[in-house]
Amino acid sequence: MFTEPAPAKLNLALHVRQRREDGYHSLETLFAFVADGDTVALDDTASGCAIAGPFAGALDGDGDNLVPRAAARFAETFGIPHGGGITLTKCLPVASGLGGGSADAAATLRLLARRHGIALDDPRLFDCADRLGSDVPACLYSRTALGSGRGESLTPIAGAAGTPVLLVNPRVAVATAPVFAGWDGQDRGPLPDGDLLTIARDGRNDLEAPAKAIAPVIGDVLDLLNSRSGVMVARMSGSGATCFALFADAHDRAAAAAAVRRSHPNWWCLETVLL
Ligand code: C5P
Repeated sequence: MFTEPAPAKLNLALHVRQRREDGYHSLETLFAFVADGDTVALDDTASGCAIAGPFAGALDGDGDNLVPRAAARFAETFGIPHGGGITLTKCLPVASGLGGGSADAAATLRLLARRHGIALDDPRLFDCADRLGSDVPACLYSRTALGSGRGESLTPIAGAAGTPVLLVNPRVAVATAPVFAGWDGQDRGPLPDGDLLTIARDGRNDLEAPAKAIAPVIGDVLDLLNSRSGVMVARMSGSGATCFALFADAHDRAAAAAAVRRSHPNWWCLETVLL
């Protein structure tokens, strides 16, 4: 049995620059990853794709699951017939801005690459990732990086590993395409210069406004996070609805988590750290 973690992705900043002819948007983003997420496991003696974990129900019978698509693309690209069964353990909320499906697809590619002795920097693996979705290349490496283009053009940047993070999702699934479609077309400028925490602090997420128009509760999550002491930055990730707060101190994070759980017991709330 081979297992592979699929860490949750955060966009510490996401600046949308331009609508493209192909329907995608040119953007500049700062990708980071946290120490929690889904996992995928390969069992050579089984077949098919099984889904387990607290958010398994959200994917049941749906075409959203990128794991079998990643396995099929890997098999086709490398000419290795797909054998074995894959179990996806879904710990992250679905359609939540944490790149769950992209991270699962990327972890599937890493898992199969390890199983078949293919180097993780093989350009064919990147190509598989790129065709599966805009965030899948970033998730393939799961390291802090600046992303441009659709998000697939990556430049590594030094991380801030261990920084305390609180993730809060108001249990509203938000589809990506309608949020991008609601962007007002205003280019508000590039990512700021500086190290990871400076870019996070001085940056924006240009998808916050269109996501809030679809799910106004995102504004409540951000107001609550911004009201807590010790918050360095609170922002929505990706196309939402999950919001993150970065803290200088784990005690402030714990106090904020307790306040969220007390006031909104139905919201999903996770204390974690940057990788
Ligand atoms: O690439 P992916 O399939 O994950 O993108 C999902 C949708 O999000 C796209 O169909 C598009 O509507 C939107 N998108 C975008 N610009 C990007 C990335 C995604 O408009 N850079």
